[in-house]
Amino acid sequence: MRRKVIAGNWKMNLTPAEAKVLVGDLAGKIAGNPACDVVVCVPFVDIATVVEATAGTCIKVGAQNMHQAEKGAFTGEISAPMLVACGVEYVVIGHSERRQYFSETDETVNAKVKSALAAGLKVILCVGETLAERETGVTEETVSRQVKLGLVGVTEAQLANVIIAYEPVWAIGTGVTASDEQAEETCAFTRGVIAEVYSAAAADAIVIQYGGSMNAANAAGLLSMGNIDGGLVGGASLKADDFATIVTAAG
Ligand code: 13P
Repeated sequence: MRRKVIAGNWKMNLTPAEAKVLVGDLAGKIAGNPACDVVVCVPFVDIATVVEATAGTCIKVGAQNMHQAEKGAFTGEISAPMLVACGVEYVVIGHSERRQYFSETDETVNAKVKSALAAGLKVILCVGETLAERETGVTEETVSRQVKLGLVGVTEAQLANVIIAYEPVWAIGTGVTASDEQAEETCAFTRGVIAEVYSAAAADAIVIQYGGSMNAANAAGLLSMGNIDGGLVGGASLKADDFATIVTAAG
């Protein structure tokens, strides 16, 4: 049985003071032993505060991006070893906003995945088609390419530290969620790609999340599907009540 993972992606929201309030609220609402893993992926400047505020709780901390080099002359960037040193356990890589606005390619995504895994981070690798790609009928081609190129050189043993987040770009921040069936279909297809590249056992073990307008109202339906092992939640992760409801729905 795969353990579900609910991860919040705060994107570029919340100062450290605001972050402290949100995780305090959240820790109160999901106290005890949730049936899933809970992660909040926060802006770099919030990491120290959130690591401290979540100590002793079930909430784990992630970053939203990193640079692929270990260190060096890359002004403004943050490396995987720096994240680890700050108590970060997870990192989101290849989010569609980074691909769209910051020119990330399957090749840079792959370099970041390998660097993160080498440093001991768990990776949430984001894949997903645009509306034009879905309408042109190349959803599977797109997801297959992003998964395969994103994981070049990643061993089956390392795959244990990789989560794939299927996030259709047309569903992100739009309020338009993929239907339970649409999300399930592409998550199942993604699992098939892992079976093809690695093995049936690897495909069976890997956690595949859905992301894109997941909220307190639609989470239970999406999370009840056989190939959806969690969620990568944007807007709704900024509200403690809604995020806690999604965590409960994963139980
Ligand atoms: P929304 O939940 O706001 O649509 O964002 C999804 C997302 O991009 C998570 O990474």
